[in-house]
Amino acid sequence: MTRTSPAAEFDSESIERLDQIIASHLHREGPLLPILHDIQAEWGMVPDDAQPIIAKALNLTRAEVYGVVSFYHDFRDHPTGTHVLRLCRAESCISMGADDLADQVCRALGIGWHETTPDGRLTLEPVFCLGLCACGPSAEFDGKLVGRANLAKVTRFVQEARA
Ligand code: FES
Repeated sequence: MTRTSPAAEFDSESIERLDQIIASHLHREGPLLPILHDIQAEWGMVPDDAQPIIAKALNLTRAEVYGVVSFYHDFRDHPTGTHVLRLCRAESCISMGADDLADQVCRALGIGWHETTPDGRLTLEPVFCLGLCACGPSAEFDGKLVGRANLAKVTRFVQEARA
């Protein structure tokens, strides 16, 4: 398993950028989630180093910030590969064969959940409903929804990404 990618270097420049993101949401009633979304958009993850800074700015405990990051499946506290494949793990897709698809994809890629291929190109993540329940099993590749996903479709996306 490899969890490398353009990992965030949390230097003084990063802290300055983080401060800007936090400041841009402080006027909101619930600033934590939009701050976390912007941080993930900036660094591809919510770096551990950012969490105490966010906590201090919002007058929260580090545990409270960590609790939110770990509760929402959309937030990552680890870097991803260049491409991200997400397979739906929610009930409707499970009833349409999502477990089998996940097994096949894991075997084909040689990685498990939250892992990245050794070339650093692809990370596999679970997701709990993509809003495409009628077309399960559903997947998402780099933000693009894939309905009635099967190994052939997923493999095609992966191969195109690696080309
Ligand atoms: S349950 Fe899979 S998209 Fe909704």
